[in-house]
This record gives sequence, C-alpha cells and structure tokens, in this order.
Amino acid sequence: MDSIPLHKFLVEAGVGARRQAVAAVKLGRITVNGKAAASYTMPVYPEFDEITCDGKLLKSHHQAKIVLMLNKPAGLLSTTSDDRGRRTVLDILPPEYRGLGIYPVGRLDQDTTGLLLLTNDGNLTYRLTHPKFELGKEYLVHVDGTLSPREKEEMEKGLLLDDGLTSPAAVSEIGYDPPFNYSIVIHEGRTRQVRRMFAYLGHLVRDLKRVRIGNLKLGNLKEGEFRKLLPQEIGNLLKSHGE
Ligand code: URA
Repeated sequence: MDSIPLHKFLVEAGVGARRQAVAAVKLGRITVNGKAAASYTMPVYPEFDEITCDGKLLKSHHQAKIVLMLNKPAGLLSTTSDDRGRRTVLDILPPEYRGLGIYPVGRLDQDTTGLLLLTNDGNLTYRLTHPKFELGKEYLVHVDGTLSPREKEEMEKGLLLDDGLTSPAAVSEIGYDPPFNYSIVIHEGRTRQVRRMFAYLGHLVRDLKRVRIGNLKLGNLKEGEFRKLLPQEIGNLLKSHGE
C-alpha cells in the first residue's frame, strides 16, 4: 500500500492533465479526507483516502479499499447476512457502505462487544487473521469468581480444549474497568475461545469485550459507533507482530 503524489492520482482519476490537476488543487477544488488538499505534491493512498473534486468522490483505477473499525454492540452477528433475518454488523453501517463488498475480519460472538474490523481488502484480512502473523487480541472479561494462581498459570501455558491445546496466553487481574475483572491476550481466533478457556476452569464469562488487535486499540469509540482507519493506522497495524 504505497502513497503517490496527489497530482498523479488526480490525473489517473480523470480530473485532467497534470497542469489542470495542479490548478484544481490551487483553486481549492480538491479535498482529501474531508479537508482542502494542502498541496498538489502531498502523498495520498489511492486505496484508502477519500478524495473529492468539486464535492464528487474520485476513483482511480485502484479499487477503493475500505477499512473500518467498529465498536460492536451486543446482539449483532459478525456476518454479512443471516438466513434467519437476524441483525448483522453491516446493518449499522450507513447506506453508502453497501455494495462495496465489506465484511467483518474474523468474528466476535453475538454477545461479545468491542473492536471489530470491517473491510473489502482480502490481502489485509489475510495479514490480520493468518496465525503465522501472531497478532495478539486483547479482551476484557467479566468472569464469575477469581482464578487461583494455578488456574492462571494453566491458562497462560495452554489448555487442552476439545479442538486442541491453546497457545500461550497472557492473563491479568484488572480493576480499572468494572465489571470486567480480567484481561486476556490470545493469539488465535478459535470459536468462542475465551469463553471456553474460562469455562474449562469452571468460570462463567458474563461479559466479553475486545479492546485491542495487535497495536490497534479500541480507544474511546463508543458502542455502536464506527470510523475509518487512517492509512498510518493500517500501516502500523501491519507492523504488529506477537503484540
Ligand atoms: N472469544 C470468545 O469466546 N468470544 C469472542 O467473541 C471472541 C473470542
């Protein structure tokens, strides 16, 4: 995902020849991600930046790639459609995001809240979900009871669940975000993995919220809200390894 100078993008997008593209920037007709373009040489990312001329969204031959982060509320399915008509995470996106081939990257259970990425970029999905990239995912957990030191150690070393041994996890007791009482970082994405890990040790998970993927934090995005990831955030996320 490389940047190119804005004027090059404008030529590719059919604003005109280089001279006309430069003039359009100077006349303030061009915006990049909602702000007037600062200069015609500014670097832009054709796949991710939203660039307009006279208010019209421009497209180059690069397919527009979209990456959104959502704070998923409980109750929504992490799929693109459901044959039983239940609401999915796509249902809370505004109409302009329909028909762009956007889908959730991985899954959160229906009852799990927090950080979920949505994209139409297959390469990015591969980089974020393939186990060889070992992206850590951090969850806050509201669980019944307290883990004994032995249980915590077992969880950290690996538990033999019915689909195999879990890879090492990091578990810590927390007091900063009640009712959540534990944080756990795992590097896999098996179905209902965190719930099953606690259940294996006899602890019921009452609430589960994902707060981080690699080095990308949910931050203060409210439940039900989403935003576009900035190109720098995507670049940083791709540099995460084992975090
Ligand atoms: N682990 C779970 O148990 N549920 C999720 O939604 C994500 C991880």
